Amino acid sequence: MMKVRKAVIPAAGLGTRVLPATKSMPKEMLTIVDKPAIQYIVEEAVNAGITDILIITNRGKGIIEDHFDRSPELEERLLASGKKDVYEQVVGISKLANIYFVRQKETKGLGHAVNCARSFVGNEPFAVLYGDDVIIGDDPACGQLIRAYEQYGKAVVGIKAVPADAISKYSSLKVEPLNDNVYSVTDMVEKPQTPDKVLSLFSILGRCVLTPDIFDILDKTAPGAGGEIQLTDAMKTLACTVGMTGVDFTGKRYDMGDKLGILQATVEIALQNPQLGDAFRQYLKDLAPTL
Ligand code: UTP
Repeated sequence: MMKVRKAVIPAAGLGTRVLPATKSMPKEMLTIVDKPAIQYIVEEAVNAGITDILIITNRGKGIIEDHFDRSPELEERLLASGKKDVYEQVVGISKLANIYFVRQKETKGLGHAVNCARSFVGNEPFAVLYGDDVIIGDDPACGQLIRAYEQYGKAVVGIKAVPADAISKYSSLKVEPLNDNVYSVTDMVEKPQTPDKVLSLFSILGRCVLTPDIFDILDKTAPGAGGEIQLTDAMKTLACTVGMTGVDFTGKRYDMGDKLGILQATVEIALQNPQLGDAFRQYLKDLAPTL
């Protein structure tokens, strides 16, 4: 079995739920404490053993490329003023992994975005980390899925149970328990609009590990929910034919495509920050009684 060493981060969405912030600023670049969201995602992939990452961008997202590039003037200034720690942090970003970029020329959905990765992926299994889903945990979520791929030999989806009244906004999966937090997935539906279409409250959230046969399936996938080419529709073919594995991953997920999700990420990740955490906790304690 080939090792999973490549990852794809789709980051070409329009981010309409976070407007006006995302009019010219990609939602993947919105800051959580002191780093843009996409840096947390790249770091998760690297911590899971990924060495090569393709970020799918589009017009107006060049700032993502700049973030992962060297910055000679800034670096020189930091060194000259003795700020060695910050210098190392800034240079370190450009050395995290081999990072490549490709543009999705039209915003036709997540499935269409992943299909732009065909020549980067070649004939290898690969991880997909959704560019607006930050997951924080001791064991990288992406690595948990890679281990399930290595154990069961099938494509894997990261799954979480969602509230019944929210399932129509997510995907819904038909699952059978395998062990602990691992399930076999044999069918799925994107955004079930009526209760009879709901297969379970388990939904795909944020991460998957796919096999390269997904590309031929994506080529044949017609636009689905919202008129977009849905990755879920293509994965449904895999689930219904060869089957997939679902991992109810550990770690806290923050939806950076949603204004409340961004606020929750900021507060909770700030509380864990070694430099700021104590002062921020005290600030929240002082603020809470006034609410
Ligand atoms: P979303 O559906 O959450 O992103 O896609 P969106 O289209 O930006 O959301 P709205 O406009 O607020 O509803 C999940 C991930 O897939 C990427 C997004 O950037 C996000 O990281 N995506 C989505 C693409 O790369 N291309 C697309 O055509 C759609």
